[in-house]
Order: sequence, then C-alpha cells, then structure tokens
Amino acid sequence: MAPASLILLGATVILQVDLLPDKKFLLLPPVNFTIKAINLAQVLLRWEPNTDQEQRNVQLGYHVKINAPQEEDYETRNTESRRITILHKGFSASVQTVPWNDRSLQPSSWVSAELRAPPGSPGTSIVNLTCTTNTKANNYTHLRPYQVSLHCTWLVGKDAPEDTQYFLYYRYGSWTEECQEYSKDTLQRNIACWFPRTFINSKGRDSLAVYVNGSSEEAVIKPFDELFALHAIDRVNPPAKVTAEIEGTCLSIQWEKPVSAFPVHCFDYEVKIYNTRKGYFQTEKMTTNTFISVIDGISEYSIQVRAAVSSVCRAVGPSSEWSQPIYVGNNEQKPWTKWFLIAVMATVCFILLIFSLICRICHLWTKVFPPVPAPKSNIKEFFVTINYEKTGSSETQIEVISYAEEAGSETLEDSVF
Ligand SMILES: *[C@@H]1O[C@H](CO)[C@@H](O)[C@H](O)[C@H]1NC(C)=O
Ligand SMILES: *[C@@H]1O[C@H](CO)[C@@H](O)[C@H](O)[C@H]1NC(C)=O
Ligand SMILES: *[C@@H]1O[C@H](CO)[C@@H](O)[C@H](O)[C@H]1NC(C)=O
Ligand SMILES: *[C@@H]1O[C@H](CO)[C@@H](O)[C@H](O)[C@H]1NC(C)=O
Repeated sequence: MAPASLILLGATVILQVDLLPDKKFLLLPPVNFTIKAINLAQVLLRWEPNTDQEQRNVQLGYHVKINAPQEEDYETRNTESRRITILHKGFSASVQTVPWNDRSLQPSSWVSAELRAPPGSPGTSIVNLTCTTNTKANNYTHLRPYQVSLHCTWLVGKDAPEDTQYFLYYRYGSWTEECQEYSKDTLQRNIACWFPRTFINSKGRDSLAVYVNGSSEEAVIKPFDELFALHAIDRVNPPAKVTAEIEGTCLSIQWEKPVSAFPVHCFDYEVKIYNTRKGYFQTEKMTTNTFISVIDGISEYSIQVRAAVSSVCRAVGPSSEWSQPIYVGNNEQKPWTKWFLIAVMATVCFILLIFSLICRICHLWTKVFPPVPAPKSNIKEFFVTINYEKTGSSETQIEVISYAEEAGSETLEDSVF
C-alpha cells in the first residue's frame, strides 16, 4: 500500500516538477549511515544529513526501510533510530531523505548498510529454545513485592562438537544478566538455565531478549538469539486459597487471585466442577472470585479453578494450571462402606457367638464327666493358665479364660456384643 501510493505520488510529483520553475531542487541521500549492535538483540541506526543539501524552506525527514531479518518501514525526523530485533541472521536497512510536509518533492535515492550475521559453523548453534517466566511473592523486600524467575531450555546443535559449551544471557530493558545455574547433558554441555530472580517486570510490555553463544576447540559456535513476548511465556500461577461449601442445594466456591503483580481486576477465571456420582464436568468462565451453582445435593463434587490475565491488562496468553482439586458434597462411597462394615461386624459377632456356645457345651461336658479326679488346687490352675497363654492363639486364650473363671464366661459374652 505504502510503496504503491509513493509511486503514485512520485508520478504526480514528476508531472508537477515539469511544470514548476524550481524543478532543479533535488533531495540528497543522508551520509555516514551506520548500523551498530548496542546490546543483546538491539541495534542503533545512525546517519547524517547530507552537507551538500541545498537549503530551502523545506522540512526534511527520513524514510527508513529495514530489509532483514524482518521487513519494516517507517519515517522519522531524527538522524538515529533504535530497533529491537534478532541479530543472529544479520541485519540490513536503507534510508532516504524525504520531504516532511511538502509531498510535491521527490525523495532522495537510498543509502544502505548492514550488520553481518555473526560467524560460526552451520549446525553448531542451539535449537528449539523455549523460555518461561513465573512470578513469586518476594518475602525479603517490600520495594519489589514480586520476583520473576526465568527458565530456558534448548537442544544442542546437531553438528556441534562434543566439547561445545553454551552460555545464556537475557536482556530485559537495559538489564543484561548471564546465567549462573545451568543443567547439563551427559557430555556436560549446558542445555537449560534457571534464573531464580530476574529484572523482568512481569507487567512490562518490553520483549525479553535471550542470547546463547558458545565455545569449542574444534569449531566456531554460531550464536543464537530470540525475542519473547512476556504474555506468551508467562506461566500464570493458579488461583490461591480455593474453598467450596454446600448449603442445601447451593454450592458456593471462592478463591483469591493468583500470586501475581497484576491487580485483582486483571484476571479471568474458569471453574471446573466434576460430579463424581454422575461423572460429568461443568466448566464456567467468569471474572469474579466467587461462583455459586445450584446442585442436587446428593453427589460429591471435585472442584478446580484456573486463571488467565485478562485482555483488559495484557495481550492474551496461556491460562494457569488447574488448582489442586478440592472435594465437597456427599461421598456416595460412604453408604456402601457403611453397609460393608456392618456386614463384617455382624459376621464376626456371629462367629464369636457360635464359638462361645461351643465352649460352653465343652465346659458343661467336662463338668458332667470330670476327666480324672484330681486335687483341686488354685496353684495348678494358675500354671495351666500360663501354659495356655503361651501358645499365643486368641482361640486358646478365650478357652483359658472360660476355664479358669467359671463365672467369667457370662461377662465375656456380654463384653463381646
Ligand atoms: C562522515 O564520516 C567521515 C569519516 O568518518 C567524517 O569525516 C565526516 O565528517 C562525516 N560526515 C558527516 C556529515 O558527519
Ligand atoms: C525442534 O524444533 C523443530 C522445528 O522447529 C521440530 O520439528 C522438532 O520436533 C523440535 N524437536 C524437539 C525435540 O522438540
Ligand atoms: C514466600 O513465602 C511463601 C509462603 O510463606 C512461600 O510459599 C514462597 O515460596 C516464598 N517466596 C520466596 C521467594 O521465598
Ligand atoms: C558470549 O557473549 C557474551 C556477551 O555478549 C560475551 O561477553 C562472551 O564473551 C561471549 N562468549 C563467547 C564464547 O563468545
């Protein structure tokens, strides 16, 4: 669109210039155009006005065209311009002088400059770089109530020598830091990095620049850089303190905003209610911290909530993980468990009843036909008791008790039931 209108404009300008007497007024291109990398993934473009430019009462500006790595087109009245861009593929741009207001004049010719791609053997740079950020409450200072961590992982280039070592740096705004905590592969090459705290402002709109270069005895390792939008890589925390309660047929769920630098009004939530008896999910989206639902009151529910920073406060990014499930309502497992327990108890009691009856009969038998007439002695009885107890089985113990204390068997029966 812009080039087309420029051509049209150009055509009209030529027509007009032919008719006008000052057709010799030509714009000259700027001089000393340079491109310099001033930081990780940041360049400075600079040029000077042409000293030979004829001075007339015309305001001049510049039209900058970035050709690589990504085409971009803009106009400025300054003689320098900063751009944030990846640099591992090189960078090239052109600039021309343009009339700022008077569109009847023709722009100058172009001057170009380039920043070459950094040297390195092909296939030695890292691949599949992924980074995520996460926010935690900062308990140590009230000046920065939240701290942002950064975690990046990557794969070793397929043609990188075994002795390759990689180094990761990030830049956020004017802050640059080198990684101090790497994870390594089996060949001791760095393949992941963890910054427990960074200068990243989780509410900021700047993109995060990550740069990974490397060294090896055998090859020049090609560096790699990438820009990340914070909203796309931020791992939002799940909502905090999720609680739920049931009153009659009313299920009310409450939670607090996730640990985040964003204020309360910046969150959208999703509530997932799973009815464990009927086996279905219900999910609801909302912007408040409370959800009330009418339920049948006889099921058990598992409840989870997740959060996302709303488009009111930031470009849309991924949602948080679901919170840990919480359970409310009637557990329909309970009646079954209760009946099972009752059945088991009844069986045990029945067996004990039968058993004590048998014992009583045996005892009666012994009384009716005493085995060997022997002198009754309390001491002997005592020994028998000891001996039986040593066998250890509960059956014999019961037998022993009913043998040793004739009157006690009634009491025993009572206490069992
Ligand atoms: C352009 O650069 C040259 C050499 O670096 C310098 O002599 C000259 O003054 C510069 N021109 C302008 C317009 O600054
Ligand atoms: C790495 O990225 C490439 C494309 O970018 C993809 O095809 C490949 O599956 C990725 N490898 C791994 C291990 O994720
Ligand atoms: C701050 O305290 C909370 C709970 O007291 C804890 O979960 C969290 O990990 C702490 N944050 C940091 C950065 O130590
Ligand atoms: C990697 O880049 C950093 C920052 O630009 C630089 O200080 C360091 O010397 C580089 N390392 C290698 C091995 O090129």
